[in-house]
Amino acid sequence: MADHSGKQWWKEAVVYQIWPRSFKDSDGDGLGDIPGITEKLPYLAELGINVIWLSPVFASPNDDMGYDISDYRAIMPEFGTMADFDTMLETAHSLGIKILMDLVVNHSSDEHAWFEASRASRDNDYRDYYIWRDSSGHDEAGNPLPPNNWVSEFSGPAWAYDEHTDQWYLHMFSKKQPDLNWENPKVRQEIFDIVTFWLDKGVDGFRLDAINIISKPEGLPDDPAVVPGKQTSSIPFVIENGTRVHEWMHELNAETFAKYDVMTVGEMSATLPEEAIQFSGFTSDELHMIFHFEHMTVDSDPGASMGKWSRKPVDLVELKTILNEWQTKLSGKAWGSLYWNNHDQPRTISRFGNDSPEYRELSGKMLATVLHFMQGTPYIYQGEEFGMTNVQFDAIDDYKDLDSLNMYESMVRQYGTLTHEQAMELIYAKGRDNARTPVQWDASDNGGFTDAGVQPWIGINPNFTEINVAEAVSREDSLWNFYRQLIGLRRGELQHLMVYGDFLPLGEDDAQVYAYERIGEGEKLLVIANFTDQELTRDFGLGEGLSPVISNYTDDAGTTLRPYEAKVYRLAN
Ligand code: NOJ
Repeated sequence: MADHSGKQWWKEAVVYQIWPRSFKDSDGDGLGDIPGITEKLPYLAELGINVIWLSPVFASPNDDMGYDISDYRAIMPEFGTMADFDTMLETAHSLGIKILMDLVVNHSSDEHAWFEASRASRDNDYRDYYIWRDSSGHDEAGNPLPPNNWVSEFSGPAWAYDEHTDQWYLHMFSKKQPDLNWENPKVRQEIFDIVTFWLDKGVDGFRLDAINIISKPEGLPDDPAVVPGKQTSSIPFVIENGTRVHEWMHELNAETFAKYDVMTVGEMSATLPEEAIQFSGFTSDELHMIFHFEHMTVDSDPGASMGKWSRKPVDLVELKTILNEWQTKLSGKAWGSLYWNNHDQPRTISRFGNDSPEYRELSGKMLATVLHFMQGTPYIYQGEEFGMTNVQFDAIDDYKDLDSLNMYESMVRQYGTLTHEQAMELIYAKGRDNARTPVQWDASDNGGFTDAGVQPWIGINPNFTEINVAEAVSREDSLWNFYRQLIGLRRGELQHLMVYGDFLPLGEDDAQVYAYERIGEGEKLLVIANFTDQELTRDFGLGEGLSPVISNYTDDAGTTLRPYEAKVYRLAN
């Protein structure tokens, strides 16, 4: 049994997530690509990160933007070639940057050769690579009914009917993402071989997509949470009732990861700290850390009929309670990951901060401070480091994400439960395309993402003329330089406290200020952050012997906290 309770390189890492389609286009086709990433690696080295999580670059029909893989050993031609990939990996390594791949093996694309063979007949060798079931009956008109009532993550039933073989296949995400059947040992072996292929190429680890839903509840019973008219996904039901996930995580780890010095992080919605410890405990022999989603739900209404497609004002006490519990419950038992953003989430400044010109950078620095001083491995999502914000396109056709498009189709066009305006408001607040507009490199045409005059695959946020990398890098007091400082402190002189110090929450009932300490031997850090646009007064007993570490204001106003002020002190313990 491995014991990961001590120092580990992946605990000390700062990760940067690249969503390749929108990162940097090198060949003027309006899509980001691998040579574009290679070109920008020195930029990332300058920022100071040392690990990249690369969202999928494998062959894919892009129904779900690469999370539907049709060949796990091939690079998507629009993104480049395997030679381009090798050059990127080598260049990254030469700059001291490791690369994690995205392992999407709960499902494949329906255009994967396995599925094409699987659907061809009921009795071929690949039939059991996927989850096929008979109809549960027929409706009055004689139409077949799905095997159970499960609802997919992207709206509508989780089963698709295949006329040719008169059976249904399971897809927890889109119809073009059939779930793989992990019960079949041949499927598991295929996955181990794919992982080994990439590890032998020299990649440094994996982010495992939706990995806690690979084991389906025995007998595939109905999901009791599904009620007519309510559009909630059955994923939580699968997570709660799948019985073999830990057995398979052990197996995957033993057959692949454990043989290499790599880092692994599992994506796990609907997961609480106690469960996280089972997956990523220091002696679990499963994964190094997981992404939980609890803090991503604080602006959704739990009573609403549409899950994430609902809104509620953020209650800071609720947000702090969640984050503080993850800090304290994992402490000494498991390692955590820290994030505000990824390719599935709206932009954090628009969501938890304030994206007005006056407060965009101040609130971005405040949010960065709160996250980067916590225990765990921090992840920065492309554009976060210089303060990209949510976008608002007028027409639904300007949106590309099937999650938003499906919601609009069913709620506006099919059921008429929402007006166009109501649906657009939800997409503006929650849609995944907020994170997927092109990276704004400079103020030139197309923000320097692609050549001037080329139509990018999705519109660029019109604020690129003010918010862009070139501007942020050139200004000493920019958010970008603030991120660079935070990363420098964590990877340098404050590593012992920022990475390994104990976490102690302060003022837990305070609905406006987030404060905590990180405690080491003989010294500690005190972190104070005003989450509001109000001037506040708080007395943290600040006395003598404080040295300021970092702040988003140029001077210190003592017990007065100005709008979105964040400051950190180092002091004796
Ligand atoms: C989680 C990924 O992050 C998301 O982008 C994707 O749509 C689903 N899993 C399905 O792969």
